[in-house]
Amino acid sequence: MAEREGSVAEAVVGTGPAPMLSGSPVGERGSMAAEVWEGLSEAPRTLSSKYFYDTRGSELFVEITGLAEYYPTRTERTLLERRGQELLRHHAPRALLELGAGSAKKTRVLLDAMETRDGGGVYIPQDVSGEFLEETARRLRDEYPHLEVSPLVGDLTHPFEPDLEVPRPVMVALLGSTIGNFTDAQATEILTNIQSFLQPGDRFLMGADLRPSAGKSVDELEAAYNDARGVTAEFNRNILANLNRRLGTDFQPDRFQHQAFYHVEGARIEMHLVSQGPQTIRIPGQGIVELENGESIRTEISRKWDRPSVERLFALGELELLEWITDERERYALAVGGPR
Ligand code: AVJ
Repeated sequence: MAEREGSVAEAVVGTGPAPMLSGSPVGERGSMAAEVWEGLSEAPRTLSSKYFYDTRGSELFVEITGLAEYYPTRTERTLLERRGQELLRHHAPRALLELGAGSAKKTRVLLDAMETRDGGGVYIPQDVSGEFLEETARRLRDEYPHLEVSPLVGDLTHPFEPDLEVPRPVMVALLGSTIGNFTDAQATEILTNIQSFLQPGDRFLMGADLRPSAGKSVDELEAAYNDARGVTAEFNRNILANLNRRLGTDFQPDRFQHQAFYHVEGARIEMHLVSQGPQTIRIPGQGIVELENGESIRTEISRKWDRPSVERLFALGELELLEWITDERERYALAVGGPR
């Protein structure tokens, strides 16, 4: 088991609430180290999947989305291409607010439809990085001269300022099966947040990767996380390299083996890093983690859905499922919800 180092200064960082030092690099590093330490001290040992996405990790993820084995991205894109126009016509939002928009690659077809909307359309890309968002906004304004683009900087769990004004009806979109990374408790927080922002007539559009079924075998699902070229393995191990860079930990990424499998009872893919031999890892300011040979660290859950489980999820956020759109093999779904 992990043991905490004895120094008083270090103990202060590890206990108590997260320090109120946001914006200060030292404070951020301190709370990140404390969070990493906490996850690694739990059973099972975990690391938050948000640490995948440094520059290298984001590049690797883009590479994953283009892999033959990784069907979710292109299946969602095809669904949006086939059904997006009609969806927007039907729900007729004046604004599209996309959570975790990044470079807005997922929403092209929706933007095409918003641009030609009678009375004008507004696109509100939301993401954590303001700089990146501004770049995306500039590019989109060039490409879509009739679209009003108003970027919104925020965290997915606290996306909306209480006084944020947007044209209504608004469609809030959370695509890419991002919801799969969160536990029920976390997902409830996210959905409740969205729900309290919605007014009658507003909509929530969510992309969800589906459970194995007649149209999708467990093998096909697992292959999406075990690609032949090993890009996902590299993506997984990069989380350790990122922690080394940001926290000064001393993980040796090549002494960990990538593992990904479908956990049937949990209806989720789990990604792990399995220690090859016994290892001692130093988390500066926190303590030491001792790993046995074969011991694993869980780095991601990617939950899989069906219609009843999405209905239950929506109910947790007091949302009603209004539309359920899947591909012909039922590998992926677009779910449209509204306030109850
Ligand atoms: C971006 C969270 C949807 O869970 O499929 C891809 C991340 N991890 N391959 C997913 C991921 C490994 C992806 N999400």
